[in-house]
Amino acid sequence: VLVTGCSGGIGLATATLLAARGWRVFGTMRDPGRDPGLAGRIGGGAGRAEILALDLTDGASVRTAVSQLLVATGGELYAVVHNAGTGDAGFFEDMPDAAFRRVLETNFLGAVALTRAALPAMRRAGAGRLVIVSSAAVFFPAPAQTAYTASKTALEGWAESLALEVAPFGIRLALVEPGAHRTGIWDAAEITGPADSPYHSWLTSLVPRMRALALRRGGDPARVAAVIAAALEARRVRLRYLVGPDARGARLLAALPGPARQSIQRAFYGRPAVTAAPPAPPGGAGS
Ligand SMILES: NC(=O)c1ccc[n+]([C@@H]2O[C@H](COP(=O)([O-])OP(=O)(O)OC[C@H]3O[C@@H](n4cnc5c(N)ncnc54)[C@H](OP(=O)(O)O)[C@@H]3O)[C@@H](O)[C@H]2O)c1
Repeated sequence: VLVTGCSGGIGLATATLLAARGWRVFGTMRDPGRDPGLAGRIGGGAGRAEILALDLTDGASVRTAVSQLLVATGGELYAVVHNAGTGDAGFFEDMPDAAFRRVLETNFLGAVALTRAALPAMRRAGAGRLVIVSSAAVFFPAPAQTAYTASKTALEGWAESLALEVAPFGIRLALVEPGAHRTGIWDAAEITGPADSPYHSWLTSLVPRMRALALRRGGDPARVAAVIAAALEARRVRLRYLVGPDARGARLLAALPGPARQSIQRAFYGRPAVTAAPPAPPGGAGS
């Protein structure tokens, strides 16, 4: 099994659990030189894990990682766990286009490129699993996470359509939708918001509050790892696996009519009073 993003959080918990359950694990991180002992820790000394360099935003890196794996296994690849991901913390107007694209290129287009590279070997084998770590954010979107929510929503639509295409070849696909879990994702997220932004005070109150809530109330990443292992090992695979009570709550809220849902979102995330700036005079200043 190939598990992306194993340097910490859910990916590390998943790779470690799978190795302990007897899987041969190929974990990835962008720069394996940062943690030379990682394979040993994941594999528990039993040599069941190897680490490959993988940067999902770099097509050549994606293709190289898959070919290195196939060389090591003699062409076999049973499953891919698309776990690696990154967050954003910034209001849409404040985000440079490059920061927005980086989130989509990592979380969505990276998973697409990796699947493209992995599928031929899986299809030829006539059996396999794709497990895609999405997020309960698709059910209860938050402000200051437009790129993240867009990337996970795109992932879900792509995955559900792909599941139909690959099923005749014996490949099953599962979407794992965790609620908040205690990992480093908030520290890794790029926080964007210049001091003169009209969103600045909202950002500086909301993001630390969400981060503190995720760390205080979030689940153990081992809980997501156990669900991923179940999706890989169950005889009958479900298309969706919600992880955590907050994820189940978010799923229920998604079924509410729009106005009810939006008023719950506003109560949860706040909505500061803003004074609209006077309209700019036509033709620019002074005309
Ligand atoms: N934690 C939560 O509350 C939560 C909730 C719902 C969904 N999720 C999802 O769970 C997954 C794992 O997140 P986590 O919380 O465990 O976060 P994390 O601790 O920050 O781990 C993210 C992993 O992704 C890797 N990564 C980041 N950018 C990458 C890139 N461009 N190419 C390849 N790998 C990259 C990182 O590896 P390096 O930086 O070492 O390369 C790291 O191993 C993500 O898809 C996230 O959206 C998390």
